[in-house]
Amino acid sequence: MPRLIQISAEDPAAIRAELVAGLQAHCPALSPKFLYDALGSRLFSAITELPEYYPTRTEAAIFDTHLEAMATALGPASNLVELGAGNCEKAARLFAALAVRRYVAVDISADYLLAALDRLQYEHPGMEMFGVGLDFSDSLALPAEVGDGPRLLFYPGSSIGNFAPDQALAFLRRMHAACAGGRLLIGVDLVKPSAVLESAYDDALGVTAAFNRNLLLHLNRLIGSDFALADWRHVAFFNRAESRIEMHLEAARAVTVRWPGGERRFAAGERIHTENSYKWRPADFADLLTAAGFRNPRAWRDERDWFAVFAAKA
Ligand code: AVI
Repeated sequence: MPRLIQISAEDPAAIRAELVAGLQAHCPALSPKFLYDALGSRLFSAITELPEYYPTRTEAAIFDTHLEAMATALGPASNLVELGAGNCEKAARLFAALAVRRYVAVDISADYLLAALDRLQYEHPGMEMFGVGLDFSDSLALPAEVGDGPRLLFYPGSSIGNFAPDQALAFLRRMHAACAGGRLLIGVDLVKPSAVLESAYDDALGVTAAFNRNLLLHLNRLIGSDFALADWRHVAFFNRAESRIEMHLEAARAVTVRWPGGERRFAAGERIHTENSYKWRPADFADLLTAAGFRNPRAWRDERDWFAVFAAKA
């Protein structure tokens, strides 16, 4: 049986204060973590199947092609810790090649992990499995039950791109400390032509638009606001100077949004910044790993150079 351990529970008052401050700011901005309510998580999962959204399938192809070389470079990884594990499918593909004996799946809520871990445990009855509910962007302190010793920390999906470079460095430093002399395996999305990037974040079917606009429904539930979907449109563009895709919600007309205890008037065209997704040059990401304390970074890439999987020693 997989063991589930919930470390941090969300504090509704703190969440509310954070959201209201974000809405009241001179340049309104909200954390992308609020994109992932139950529907948002399903919409993200649909995004990964879109023809325009290349990262998921490109990363999977890199693993398919280079898994043996990665296993040779990494050596056996009896202790695999996956951050943002979700449906746990990415880690499961590594189990045999890396001779994994203990798998620790970390995600914001341990409940999200239950069904996936139950299924995996059935398929791998001899493996020790843990599901840890933890907001790992705040802390990487894993519970004592999951054991210590060298770990392979696995952070696929290019989620590191949702951190600004200074935050990414701080987060990689925490990962370095949490590896305990082990290794890191991490997926990184690379700089590429704007047209490719922009259609990946503004697909023809409108799934990414729905994912972004659904944030407003989530917000209405969290703070009791009265955002109306018809007033807001999805905007996504590549900011080449900052090397990031930016997602915004733009007011289609002048609108006043109210919530208990506050309100904000948005002019037509005013935007709420909802997500950044940084795209890296391989050499810059290798430097970032080194600055965080990792050694001997090496990368495997697809033939178009769109995505890289980095391995490094802690
Ligand atoms: C989760 N993260 C890596 C995705 C990305 O590509 O930045 C989130 C996403 N936002 C829009 N589409 C996908």
